[in-house]
Amino acid sequence: MKTYLVTGGSGFIGSNFIIYMLNKYNNIKIINLDKLTYAGNLENLKTIENYPNYIFVQADICDRYAVENLFEEFNIDYIVNFAAESHVDRSIQEPEVFIKTNVLGTVNLLNVAKNYWKIGDTFTEDKKYIQVSTDEVYGSLGENGYFIESTSVNPHSPYSASKASADLIVKSYYDTYKMPINITRCSNNYGPYQFPEKLIPLIINNCLNKKLLPIYGDGLNIRDWIYVDDHCKAIDMVINDGKFGEVYNIGGHNERTNIHIVKTIISYFKENIDSSISESLIKYVEDRKGHDRRYAIDPAKIKDELDWYPETNFEEGIDKTIQWYLENKGWMKNITSGEYQKYYEKMYESI
Ligand code: NAD
Ligand code: DAU
Repeated sequence: MKTYLVTGGSGFIGSNFIIYMLNKYNNIKIINLDKLTYAGNLENLKTIENYPNYIFVQADICDRYAVENLFEEFNIDYIVNFAAESHVDRSIQEPEVFIKTNVLGTVNLLNVAKNYWKIGDTFTEDKKYIQVSTDEVYGSLGENGYFIESTSVNPHSPYSASKASADLIVKSYYDTYKMPINITRCSNNYGPYQFPEKLIPLIINNCLNKKLLPIYGDGLNIRDWIYVDDHCKAIDMVINDGKFGEVYNIGGHNERTNIHIVKTIISYFKENIDSSISESLIKYVEDRKGHDRRYAIDPAKIKDELDWYPETNFEEGIDKTIQWYLENKGWMKNITSGEYQKYYEKMYESI
């Protein structure tokens, strides 16, 4: 039985990953270490929280003793590090916590794992540390071209700079100690359980509440969207078959402008839910500082080496996602009470 230490497992992608893995395998154990920041939500894991092979521990990835205690108690085979401060706009307002969690937290996990996994000068082949990173580390593209794994990192926000820093440190543990690691760099995820500070759930929530729909700048920035389960599937494949020390880009060639995303959600509401929802709700607002224009992933390496392919196309995925939020209005209501209200009012005070 393999034991996975999943960090940040109560957030958006981490919770989808835990559900994906526990539904796929019955011979694994998952320990979810999560600090439960504003973005962590135990409700995301309601469907699996009573599984005998699932354990939740509330702790900070920067806390060496908490991580060591888990290594003392369990024979941990894999660390999958999702834990992070993940929202670009918050990193512009308050960068320090991004450096602390995303950089120093990663170093702490690496050090503890190295101490427990290293035997003499080598590591056993069956252990692995996975750094869940992002396409944002590559910076911004013009109208043409794609990010490949050898594209230089050139981050622009405190968030992406913290992720790029962590990636370089993870790589250095392979180069220096031959520690078994992989780094994954995925494009924009969407799906169930995403915190409504991010574009897609924010727009869905605002349509539900007939509120204005904020679009930064001219709305023509491009993101490359992937359904969250396709990301989870890729991470599972990288854990099993990724070559030590390698970076794998993950993306499904679904480039869309932000205005296209917003209009797609409006059309769904107008046709299926409430005919009063219309494009008149769109409100162009001041642009994000340092706003990256275009992201686009070339996933050829993970396709060729690991035979990964995405299973959900954007049109199917976005319908499924909107339906999930409509069926889970209680989840949205709980997560948008409290801290979110203050965040939203400060962030969007001009509208
Ligand atoms: P999220 O903000 O929804 O969740 C982050 C989780 O980490 C939360 O549960 C939070 O409580 C936890 N956390 C934060 N600080 C912690 C700490 N110090 N110790 C322990 N736990 C802590 O984020 P997400 O969107 O699910 O992203 C997960 C990972 O995937 C991040 O590393 C992010 O950089 C990466 N990523 C995200 C996307 C995307 O589109 N969302 C795309 C590519 C990569
Ligand atoms: O590319 C992967 C990254 O995707 C991840 O590493 C990040 O953790 C994740 O947050 C996401 O970053 P983005 O900045 O691309 O996602 P966000 O949902 O914040 O914004 C998507 C686009 O929509 C971006 O161009 C900014 C724009 N936007 C966003 C919000 C919240 C708006 O126009 N209006 C908004 O209100």
